[in-house]
Amino acid sequence: MELSFSSRPLRFVLLLFFFLIFTLQYFTVASTTCHVDDETGLLGFKSSITADPSGMLSSWKPGTDCCTWAFITCLFKDRVTSIFISGQSDKPNSFLSGRISPSLSKLKSLNGLYLLNLRNISGPFPGFLSELPNLQFIYIENNKLSGQIPASIGNLTGLSALSLAGNRFTGPIPSSISRLTKLTQLKLGQNLLSGPIPYGIRQLKNLTVLSLDQTASLAPYQIFSRRSRISESSIFPITNFPENSRHPFPPSRRNWPTSSWATML
Ligand SMILES: *[C@@H]1O[C@H](CO)[C@@H](O)[C@H](O)[C@H]1NC(C)=O
Ligand SMILES: *[C@@H]1O[C@H](CO)[C@@H](O)[C@H](O)[C@H]1NC(C)=O
Ligand SMILES: *[C@@H]1O[C@H](CO)[C@@H](O)[C@H](O)[C@H]1NC(C)=O
Repeated sequence: MELSFSSRPLRFVLLLFFFLIFTLQYFTVASTTCHVDDETGLLGFKSSITADPSGMLSSWKPGTDCCTWAFITCLFKDRVTSIFISGQSDKPNSFLSGRISPSLSKLKSLNGLYLLNLRNISGPFPGFLSELPNLQFIYIENNKLSGQIPASIGNLTGLSALSLAGNRFTGPIPSSISRLTKLTQLKLGQNLLSGPIPYGIRQLKNLTVLSLDQTASLAPYQIFSRRSRISESSIFPITNFPENSRHPFPPSRRNWPTSSWATML
């Protein structure tokens, strides 16, 4: 009699306890998982990497919260807002081989893509980046991307900064680049680009940093008027500049080592 009287509330308390445990577990799992599109997109990126000898992407594992993976930032809840992967130049194993997978176009909140000094990322310019409405910063530096910079780059009108420095891009700088009117930084130096610098670059009024290979018949100091925010000294043409022609920057800067091509303002 006494036993059955006390066992009923006990059963209730136990049930409540298990109910709480299960719901808690459910909510913790739910809140520690990033958006499924972002996880899929990043795992697609990883799967197109053919060599990662230093294990840079080893924390990128299916079923874990991609916001906690190395090089990933999520500023808005469960959405990835930036990928910042940088190889260390003093470590020979710190490189990635492979291509930039179009699956990155699933990361709809991506604001910045930084693939720096990874040395062996190859393939063409990732044109699918124009499918990302929030993308403001692209830094794909010191890799092995090749081919022409596509005219469709002019579709990335939200960009504040674009650097493709230190790759193997060939051909002309597309004139459509002048449609990127929000650009404050444009770095295309240390490639194999040829042809004139598009005159329309003058329209990029907010540009404060510009680095280009100087292969053009038209020199930057002819392009930029005095009213422009950019000063001649911030333009660093490094390669193929005829030794005996006028330099747009003071002699002291002429012999900068090639490693310092990055603009330092
Ligand atoms: C660099 O990338 C190329 C092309 O993907 C590949 O054939 C080569 O093996 C890579 N080099 C290293 C050291 O992984
Ligand atoms: C992107 O640019 C290309 C060439 O400039 C153009 O033909 C194409 O329609 C553009 N695409 C989008 C989605 O705006
Ligand atoms: C250029 O910069 C100014 C001041 O920072 C800003 O108000 C303006 O909107 C910018 N122009 C473009 C096209 O982004």
